[in-house]
Order: sequence, then structure tokens, then C-alpha cells
Amino acid sequence: MSTNSNTQWGSRIGFILAGAGSAIGLGAIWKFPFWAGTNGGAAFIIPYIFFTFTIGIVLLIAELTVGRSGRGSAMHALKVAGGPIFAVLGALTVLSSYIILSYYSVVGGWCVKYLVDSVLGNLVSNDPKLLSANFEALVTNGPVNLAWHFVFLSITCGVIALGVVRGIERLSKYLMPTLFILMIFIIIRSLTLPGALQGVEFLFKFDPSTVTLGNILNAMGFTFFSLSIGSGIMITYGAYLKNNTDIPNSSLWISYLAVQTAILAGLMIMPAVFALGQNPNAGPGLVFVTIPLVFSQIPMGGLFAVLFNVCLVVAALTSAVSLLEVVVAYMQNEWRMSRQKSTMLCYVTLFFVGGVSALSFGPGADFKIGGRILFDFLDYICTNVTMPLGGLTVAVLAGWIAWDRTLKQINLVRQYSDGVNRFIRFSLRILAPALVVVVIATGI
Ligand code: PHE
Repeated sequence: MSTNSNTQWGSRIGFILAGAGSAIGLGAIWKFPFWAGTNGGAAFIIPYIFFTFTIGIVLLIAELTVGRSGRGSAMHALKVAGGPIFAVLGALTVLSSYIILSYYSVVGGWCVKYLVDSVLGNLVSNDPKLLSANFEALVTNGPVNLAWHFVFLSITCGVIALGVVRGIERLSKYLMPTLFILMIFIIIRSLTLPGALQGVEFLFKFDPSTVTLGNILNAMGFTFFSLSIGSGIMITYGAYLKNNTDIPNSSLWISYLAVQTAILAGLMIMPAVFALGQNPNAGPGLVFVTIPLVFSQIPMGGLFAVLFNVCLVVAALTSAVSLLEVVVAYMQNEWRMSRQKSTMLCYVTLFFVGGVSALSFGPGADFKIGGRILFDFLDYICTNVTMPLGGLTVAVLAGWIAWDRTLKQINLVRQYSDGVNRFIRFSLRILAPALVVVVIATGI
């Protein structure tokens, strides 16, 4: 039997917060605000909410049921339910998590660096040129970038070495509520600035001319990324679920928390950005350049800069640990290594693999694949190919090949109505595969 097959979450709320912690990451806090802004506001938010509560939640349910009935690594669970081909696809989800973590940790390192700077009072400045130059200097300076990647990776590995309950669950139980509370404080600050309402309008305005296929597809891609679907995470977390945890209900909670946080992140950032007349479409620089600039100009800005960076680090860390758990669970189960040894092996190799991505901004910027630096290339492949492929794998397996197991797992705690069960079956068999194929095709 696999080595961590006896591990179980300590409580249902602990599991929900860990799942939400995985979902709520840089996607919600950093990507969502400017994506919503640039993709038509309500024309992006409405389909995003729609996809989350239809195929998003159904795929979450499917991953958790596959995980709980398989009890082991993501690969093991897929193999048990679907045979050798699915074992290979399962191994691909593990590889995908490993690669995502390698570059996610680089961005996590920037978040930690900005947190440290904000605590020391060195972050905010009212000179936009200086702020962009500082950000540019950080990402292009090889050794500095590597050092912060190392710091973030060390924290992530430390949590995973402590285990599922003492590490991941405890971390999420403390940090996720903290995140929600801090966000509320920042939103109040942001919304009470003169001119803030323009930011709210920018996020939620509905302009029929922005309802385009492109915006809708972007919303769908974002739904996948933001719920961490297709990377083996929910399969792995599902393996630690007790039999008396209701999967559809827990999935609803995780999806709800993810959507709520993304919208709160928009409300935290956009009103302040507008109140100070900054550019809401500043893209990747939004949280590292525009936000420090904004904080430099509002009362108690220094304090709010610290709070904001705590939010970023918390969001990044709870997602990073979920990615690492997929890989460590795999090594424990398939390679029969102890948790400590598996974590150590990941620690060392991820430092180098992620390091290559870290260097791709500066010293390695000339090395390009398909016109992209390595960091962008890996992100592109994972978000547009491997994650949707993972989602497709799970949909086909849970909806067609192992539907009986799925049905049993869904209704294990309470019997859901025929309507609900039929909706899940239809979504897994038809809707999700069709939409995933569209995501992959348009992504490529
Ligand atoms: N859901 C995370 C976010 O929004 C990203 C992520 C994707 C994490 C895939 C794990 C796996 O940032």
C-alpha cells in the first residue's frame, strides 16, 4: 500500500481552507484585477462566474472523487480508475505541477522581497520611474532573483516537510482567514479615497460591445487556472478526504471563496488605482509598480503596503504548497521515499529548475522558444496545454469510464437529487470536454 494512504485532513473546514488556499493565489490577486479590466469588466466577470459554477465546480468535484476513491498520488488514483493510459496522463499532471511550481516560486520570491521592503519602509515611492527601475532591477539581476526564489522555495518546502495536517492544513487555517480580514481593511481604505468609484465602474461596467468570443474564452481559461484544475492538486487533496466529507458541498465552498476573493482583489486594487489617476492596464507591473506608487500617496500608505504584500505572500504560499504536495505525494507513493527525503529532493532540484526561469529575465533573456523567454514559455504551456489536458483527462475518466465510482463518491454522505447527478454527468461527459478542447485550441 502507498506510504501516505492513511493521511487524512484533521477537519472539513481545514480541508476547505486548504483547497481554497490552492485556488486563491497570484491568479486571483494579481491577474484578475487587470484581466477583468482589460477584458471588458462585466463581460469578463459574468462568464467567469458562470464557468466557475458550472464546469469549474464539476471538474473540482470530479478531481476530488477520483482522489478519494483512489487514495494515493494523482497518478495512482488515475491508474486505479482508468488503467495504464491514465497512469501516464496522471504522471503528466505531476510533472505539470512540478514545472508550474518551478516558476511560481520565482514570482513568490518577488512577493517576499516586496514584503520585506515594505516592512523596512523601503518600498513606497512617489516616483514611478524609480519604482519601475527597481522592479526591473530585481527581475533582471540573476543572483538577487535566485536568492529570493530560494527564500520562497525554502518556506514552501518547510511547510510540506511538516506534513498534510501539521503543515498545509495548519498554515491554511491561520493564513486564509487572515487574508480575508486584511483584504477587507484594504478595500475600505481603497473605496474611501476620493474618485474611487471610477475604479468600481471600470471593473463592473457592462458595455455590450465588449461581449466578444475572445473575452469569454479568456474568462474560461482564467476559471481553470484560478481553480487549480488539471494539475493533480484536487486529486491529491481528495485522497486525504474522510468518507464523511461531502464532496459537492465542499467544492461549492471552494469555488465560492475563489470567486469572492478575486472580486475582492479587484475592489482592493482598482478604486485606489483610479483615485490616484494611475493606469489600470499596467499588466504584470500592476502590483509591483503601480500599487507601491498608489500607497505612497495615501494616508497610512506604508502600513497598507505591508498589509497588501502580506496578502500576496499568503496567496502565493498556499498555492505553492499545494503544487509541491502533488509531487511529494507522488514520490512517496511511487518511489517509496519518505516525506522528508521527497521534499529534500524537490527542494534541491526545484532550486535549479526554477533558477533557470529566474535567470530568463536577465542573463538568459536571449534564449527564446517560440519568441518567448523560458519563464513565459513554461507558463504558456502549462496554462494553455497541460492544465486543460489534465482537466480533460479527469472529465473523461470520471464522466465516462468510471462514472459509477464518481456517482457513488458524490452521494456518499447524502443523496443528491437526480437533477444534480444528471447535471454533473452531462457536464463531465459533454460540456467540459467540449469547452476544454476549445480552450486548448484557442490557446495554441
Ligand atoms: N490557482 C492558482 C492561482 O490562482 C494558480 C495555480 C494553478 C495553483 C495551478 C496551483 C495549480 O494563482
